[in-house]
Amino acid sequence: MTALPLIIDCDPGVDDAIALLLALASPEDLNLLGITTVAGNVPLSLTQQNALKICELAGRPELPVFAGCPRPLLRPLLTAEHVHGTTGLEGVTFPNPSRAIQPQHGVAFLIERLTQTQQPITLATLGPLTNIAVALIQEPAIAHQIDRIVVMGGAITQGNVTPAAEFNIYVDPQAAQVVFEAGLDLTLISLDVTHQVLTTPERLDQIRALNTPVSAAAASLLAYYGTADAERYGLPGAPLHDPCVIAYLLAPHLFSGRALRVDIEVNSCLTLGQTLVDRWQSTGQPPNAQVIEQVDADGVYDLLINRLAKL
Ligand code: RIB
Ligand code: CA
Repeated sequence: MTALPLIIDCDPGVDDAIALLLALASPEDLNLLGITTVAGNVPLSLTQQNALKICELAGRPELPVFAGCPRPLLRPLLTAEHVHGTTGLEGVTFPNPSRAIQPQHGVAFLIERLTQTQQPITLATLGPLTNIAVALIQEPAIAHQIDRIVVMGGAITQGNVTPAAEFNIYVDPQAAQVVFEAGLDLTLISLDVTHQVLTTPERLDQIRALNTPVSAAAASLLAYYGTADAERYGLPGAPLHDPCVIAYLLAPHLFSGRALRVDIEVNSCLTLGQTLVDRWQSTGQPPNAQVIEQVDADGVYDLLINRLAKL
């Protein structure tokens, strides 16, 4: 099977970093055409550098990294240094990347690549959806060249920024609305799934036991990351969000879900950024997303550890 043409849009961010490593460790399956970065976990000035650092760690310094939008469409930027540290990759001190980001804006790259491509491209989104929304607004025709979009974001039940809203959607709910209403083949991997995939001490030890520079960095990043989340949710380990998107692309059999209607709350100050998932078809609206609900967490971690060992 030929490798899947893929663009990853992200806000590294520790879990974004692990997701990038998983993708970079899977070149036979994923033809990563480029990485676009967005403001989210930390400001764009850091997310763009962090993406370069992770490509360098994975031995792929040549992979093109682009800087996209520095803030959401309408709302002020909200960041998450309390989760990812002030650098966004707390837990590891990386050398300055040997290469610079591409001079082209991330949105321009998305439009150019999608306009010129001979075959539809898959998008994996790991952060706020600002870049994707701006690209779709600027050039709606690119929607026909997006084979499918797999989104880490949202919550069927409980949010992580407010009781209703998850971070990626909460940061830019208007962008999420543009993307969810663009008629794309969209798969949603929400907190209800990622909270089933926990970085327990045993799993962290398995990563450490690989005993490579990449696995050591991954373990150090994960050891720092999400300690707050684990304590907050009373879990035996931090939920592993973004790598679930890449695991889904690599091993969809590990996941299951339903075609459901998802609407984004963009007005209420109480539930702003909520992904309202119509689980029982009460809206009468047609489905606009494949909403993942179940995951084989052991399978995801086995895949992650197996692939990290290759770097
Ligand atoms: O809510 C979790 C999501 O928000 C993850 O993608 C994390 O990296 C942050 O972007
Ligand atoms: Ca992210």
